[in-house]
Amino acid sequence: MQWQNEAMSEDKVIQTERSTTPDSQEFLAYMAANWGETSATASRLSEAAKAAAKRRAKVAAHFAGKVVVVPAGGMQVRSNDTEYRYRPHAAFTHLTGWGSATVPDSVLVINDSTTTLFLRQTADKSSPEYFSNPMIGEFWVGPRPSLANIEQLLGIKTKSLDELAGELAKHAHEKLIELHNSDELATFLSELRLVKDEFEIGQMRDAIKATASGFDDILKNLSRAAKQNRGERLLEGVFFTNARVNGYDLGYESIVAAGPHACILHWTRNDGDVHDGDLILVDAGVELDSGYTADITRTLPVNGKFSEVQRKVYQAVLDAADAAFAFAKPGVKFFEIHEAAMKVIAARLGEWGLLPVSAAESLQKDKQFHRRWMVHGTSHHLGLDVHDCAQARRELYKEGTLEPGMVFTIEPGLYFHENDLAVPAEYRGIGVRIEDNVLVTQTGVENLSAGLPRETAAVEAWLAKLR
Ligand code: GLY
Ligand code: MN
Ligand code: MN
Repeated sequence: MQWQNEAMSEDKVIQTERSTTPDSQEFLAYMAANWGETSATASRLSEAAKAAAKRRAKVAAHFAGKVVVVPAGGMQVRSNDTEYRYRPHAAFTHLTGWGSATVPDSVLVINDSTTTLFLRQTADKSSPEYFSNPMIGEFWVGPRPSLANIEQLLGIKTKSLDELAGELAKHAHEKLIELHNSDELATFLSELRLVKDEFEIGQMRDAIKATASGFDDILKNLSRAAKQNRGERLLEGVFFTNARVNGYDLGYESIVAAGPHACILHWTRNDGDVHDGDLILVDAGVELDSGYTADITRTLPVNGKFSEVQRKVYQAVLDAADAAFAFAKPGVKFFEIHEAAMKVIAARLGEWGLLPVSAAESLQKDKQFHRRWMVHGTSHHLGLDVHDCAQARRELYKEGTLEPGMVFTIEPGLYFHENDLAVPAEYRGIGVRIEDNVLVTQTGVENLSAGLPRETAAVEAWLAKLR
């Protein structure tokens, strides 16, 4: 549906800027009359909002005397007047508790102890824009919560977006710190998310549970996918449908990669066939309304049983993941988890005779030949963004020390491209990744995604049950 433009009969141009909406006083009066009230929207302080208040206090303390501006961001154009599904900036959601229902273009302003949320009000029936403006008219965008509703929902004082420029103009330029142009603020807000609170951990558990349900549906449709064209698309759709049926969204584009596509790390085209005898790698995550997402990968034999060489490669990746699990605990460095996994990857590749040097030599900093078959990292932080805390400083991220409450992935893989002449033919076209989501506890890590089978026998049993 698009805003209607109508060409005048005397010109041949189809698209004009001329609206067909009647604008006589008589029509406007008719449109303004006879509307009942719309149902009230949420008006209770949400759990997400309670958690967010503590985070704002930290921002205010760090940037004392400054005016911190955190925009939610606007809609992104897909083409002309159609837009991508809206998602607020993770830092905005983290500081407000406002997730998928955020009104686009809202802006949070933290000025010491005064926090204000500016949002665009919709044009209600008191204005002709009610039906004539597709950006803000309630006829087009639906009734949105009032400023008072949002104030109650989030526990933040609200003002109309129209007042933002005037409010900011009251402050000296040097006092303003905006997320769009302050690396210092982007870094601070990223680092503020490194350790998750109880609310966030609960959301991660729920997102992972919802993701597990989607994987079950993928298994149930695996045989069907192997019988039709573009089976990858079917399975992508099955996962998405499961998320939508349960009321959720995705945290990123699903990767559904059958056979050699599994070696293409960001295979999101998902337009390939699914063949009996191949492995299929599925990397997908459900995002909740709160914005928290899972990020899980399972690699499955399409016909239900791993072949000998598939099993060998899969087991090596699983051993690398288990080494990472065993190593990860409070006090160790983030990058050391990757090193623990790489020791296993290099050792297996060495045992199989695929390395040009010994595994020990390959692990030297300037050699790293084993990385030909796993170019990506083993772990990244996870939360509101699939690659969460991305602007955190190196000393707190890669070189940071694990603390209870951190949530990240463990996701080693091995990828032998179908044209990789450095390996015997039997390996070619096999790609395996096993990705789990973990929470750092007081003594180690908890595998939050342990509910999805990952050992070969368990994967085969899962397939036997659902396929
Ligand atoms: N799904 C993206 C990743 O695993 O990092
Ligand atoms: Mn990941
Ligand atoms: Mn992933």
